[in-house]
Amino acid sequence: MPVKSLKTENFRNLANQEIQLAPTANVLVGRNGSGKTSTLEAIYLATSLRSFRQVRLRDVIRQGCDWSQVEITSGDVNTPLGQRVKIHGGGRTAWLGGRLVKKVSSYVVNCLSMAFTPDDLSMIKGSPERRRNFLDRALMLHRADHLERVRAFQRVLRSRNSLLKEKRPGYREMLDSYTEQLCRLAEPLSQARRQAVEQLAPLARRAYESISGTSEEMTVTYVSGSRRQGGEKGDLYQVLQAVRTRDERLGYTSRGPQFDDLQMDIAGRDARKLASQGEQRSCALALLMAVVEWLRDMDGRLPVLLLDDVSSELDSGRRGRLFSRLLEMGNQVMLTTTDPQYASQLLAAEARLLEVDQGVIEAKR
Ligand SMILES: Nc1ncnc2c1ncn2[C@@H]1O[C@H](COP(=O)(O)OP(=O)(O)OP(=O)(O)O)[C@@H](O)[C@H]1O
Ligand SMILES: [Mg+2]
Repeated sequence: MPVKSLKTENFRNLANQEIQLAPTANVLVGRNGSGKTSTLEAIYLATSLRSFRQVRLRDVIRQGCDWSQVEITSGDVNTPLGQRVKIHGGGRTAWLGGRLVKKVSSYVVNCLSMAFTPDDLSMIKGSPERRRNFLDRALMLHRADHLERVRAFQRVLRSRNSLLKEKRPGYREMLDSYTEQLCRLAEPLSQARRQAVEQLAPLARRAYESISGTSEEMTVTYVSGSRRQGGEKGDLYQVLQAVRTRDERLGYTSRGPQFDDLQMDIAGRDARKLASQGEQRSCALALLMAVVEWLRDMDGRLPVLLLDDVSSELDSGRRGRLFSRLLEMGNQVMLTTTDPQYASQLLAAEARLLEVDQGVIEAKR
């Protein structure tokens, strides 16, 4: 569902303003530090209730102010829907259609957004946690209760880990109970992740082919964190029993979905270790595209794509093919660039041009 308008108040360096967005492509052009990433971040916050930057939420409040607010509207002419989030000293408050939101999961599935920023190279190069989070977010956009599933698992894992660390008197009995609970919660979580990766893999392969313009194959596989030593598959309960003494010594749970990962290869080579920067970026973009197509196929939903500075590091061929694919997919796109030349293809296809200068956004057409 496209975002029709964005209103910001006291949000980073952005002036308090309201802008209208095109349902197709929108190109934000401006110098370094003008407020382009902040604009995408405002939309991401209003749709997802969090930032895509690795920051505390209160960092978005304009320096010298006590609160910040972002509001978007989506929906059609007859049923416009407002979503508003206010960041203040006490945290975050959100409203959907004017009603105070109590459950995050009911809010975040209303208008889906997916962001891609230069930091997203860490999808390939970074820690497994980064890839798990990506996968969990994709699953959450598909099924709102996935978030609760992950949280419930993490709660029990934390309790089990503190038990293993502190070894309070009589902890072994409690450990048994936590182990059972953990395994019960781990099973559907791993299953959902595994199935999603199996479905995403062929989509990512095709997306990579179309962006790279080569026949090099990108493969994505799910690597279970619940394996026995030596990589054998096994029931998590049995695995945890087998490593129990070791875990008691380590003071944490050393097997389980908290160690799940994705393995990505290009032409049989490990993308994390061997791919070039541009190839890694293409690989991360291919995964993003795969999720977009997956959501469309599964649920008929088209998330808003917030693409921050994607053009740098992609050669002109890859950039051109990426933009063609974006236009074909039909999602609403918000793309930032310091140089409109990088987005000439989108602009030629009637994208809305928004100029950003010192926090002021002005529609040029
Ligand atoms: N809480 C805040 N209050 C006021 N200004 C802020 C706040 N947070 C960030 N800024 C400033 O906002 C400006 C815009 O940042 P932003 O990241 O949006 O720029 P950008 O247009 O994406 O630049 P670049 O092309 O370099 O990526 C920066 O100068 C930054 O220092
Ligand atoms: Mg930026």
